[in-house]
Amino acid sequence: MQVVKSIEDLRTARKAFKGLAFVPTMGNLHAGHVSLLRLARTHRTHVAASIFVNRLQFAPTEDFDSYPRTFQDDCKKLEAEGVDLLFAPDERVLYPQPQSYIVEPPSMANDLEGAFRPRFFHGVATVVLKLFNCVQPEVAVFGKKDYQQLMVIRNMVGQLDVPVSVIAGETVREADGLAMSSRNTYLSIPDRAKAPQLQAELATIALAVRGGNVEFTKLAEESVKRLAAGGWKPDYISVRRREDLASATAGEKQLVVLGAARLGATRLIDNLEI
Ligand code: PAJ
Repeated sequence: MQVVKSIEDLRTARKAFKGLAFVPTMGNLHAGHVSLLRLARTHRTHVAASIFVNRLQFAPTEDFDSYPRTFQDDCKKLEAEGVDLLFAPDERVLYPQPQSYIVEPPSMANDLEGAFRPRFFHGVATVVLKLFNCVQPEVAVFGKKDYQQLMVIRNMVGQLDVPVSVIAGETVREADGLAMSSRNTYLSIPDRAKAPQLQAELATIALAVRGGNVEFTKLAEESVKRLAAGGWKPDYISVRRREDLASATAGEKQLVVLGAARLGATRLIDNLEI
């Protein structure tokens, strides 16, 4: 695996590969990331990854400084997956001066995650566009774990005519159902034991909706109450249309239930397609 840290070295290394499938990450790689690398490989012979903890998508109150950075371990995992190229810039490479050109996502990005993390998707969309411009992949793979992020990127690529095909990978979970996340490492032992409840609540709603229940708001409210009773601080639970994440109405078939809740200082998100 070639590891490049500057855009100049990336451009030189890039020439050796005809078409690349690309998996952008913030590092601290787990089996979820690995599944995306394997999916990428099914789309192109050569796979590139990036590791960059993007300050632009963290609010000042969030965990930018404490975000787990495990570069050596990550490199071993990428090597083991046969990744051809790793772009691992530091901040001075991607943001040599304050980033004043910012991608302005549509109003969808102010809902759900965006309602609790203002400007989060501005930061995500901007860095992803920059990474696409640097790596110039033909294909890029994103996880459904971050469902709204996937939608925002798809939307951006469409509206800005970015010549990259966006592919979605399924969420990889621990044996007890907890969606894998770099932030799971923050959980205390008792909170780790509680953490699968978020996914269980989403599964309960999915089951009810599949059974014909269309009282989406009531189902979500009941779930929020159960989470709160279990010691969580829920941000939202919501049943949406898959297509554009607009509120679900009765009769629609392609739905997804999304949720975010905090356990102690750790904020977990998850979703299930119904
Ligand atoms: P990060 O959280 O490192 O995630 C990188 C990719 O892995 C994302 O596409 C995410 O959806 C996917 N992923 C995370 N957990 C997963 C799981 N359990 N199963 C399957 N895929 C999973 O998402 C980001 O980084 C950043 O916002 C980024 C897109 C890199 C921009 O900075």
